[in-house]
Amino acid sequence: YKRITTKSLIEMKSNGEKISMLTAYDYTMAKIVDTAGVDVILVGDSASNVMAGHETTLPITLDQMIYHASSVVRAVDRALVVVDLPFGSYQSDPKEALRSSIRIMKESGGHAVKLEGGKEIKESIKKILNAGIPVMGHLGLTPQSIYKFGTYTVRAKEEQEAEKLIEDAKILEKLGCFAIVLEKIPADLAKKVADSISIPVIGIGAGGGVDGQVLVIHDMLGMNNEFSPRFLRRYLNLYELMTKAIGQYAADVKSSDFPNAGEQY
Ligand code: KIV
Ligand code: NA
Repeated sequence: YKRITTKSLIEMKSNGEKISMLTAYDYTMAKIVDTAGVDVILVGDSASNVMAGHETTLPITLDQMIYHASSVVRAVDRALVVVDLPFGSYQSDPKEALRSSIRIMKESGGHAVKLEGGKEIKESIKKILNAGIPVMGHLGLTPQSIYKFGTYTVRAKEEQEAEKLIEDAKILEKLGCFAIVLEKIPADLAKKVADSISIPVIGIGAGGGVDGQVLVIHDMLGMNNEFSPRFLRRYLNLYELMTKAIGQYAADVKSSDFPNAGEQY
């Protein structure tokens, strides 16, 4: 079937078709997500949390992101693959941002990059776009600046922060970003942003008035029990299903039930 491009996403917005997006960090999971028909696969720096077990997204490296992204790209036939630029790979200066983006594109085969921030990283975004690399923005709760805020609570509840967010979204659109992620902000504000720009707004904890939704796959499959924000819908309790299956396997080995006569040569 037809590959999803940055152009298809902009068309979906103008046709009023919602965009589905999920994270994936490895070949097997990406194959399932792509086959299931999800439009955009995000190789998120949330890999730092869910794959590596870090408390924040800060420690993951560019090399590690490239490893995850290249594994995902090998699995995907249809979805657009967007790769997060990790903390420290783009904030110093625009040249570094471009260098990191080029490494992602060349070494992983991903189709676009995502960066956190608005106005502050304008020059970097310009430079990356000028090289022909599509850029997805990310505003609202930006986990790479967690130590500046101290908490993962809802962002832009105050007027001033909301105004800045709207302004940043317009800057990202004007620069030429093909889409923007809005994380954990009031639904009314997110809708206002989506209505005021022509590029798709993909929400996570940003309500239903935006152009698409994204979730971390481990969260929506219910693989971790500890993380339960209001915006998360769990489609499976994979933690329980897997724990049961693996526990059964361990018990079957102990009892010599596995392997049976038909399971050997
Ligand atoms: O890294 C990630 O998973 C993300 C999404 C939450 C948007 O950036
Ligand atoms: Na991210």
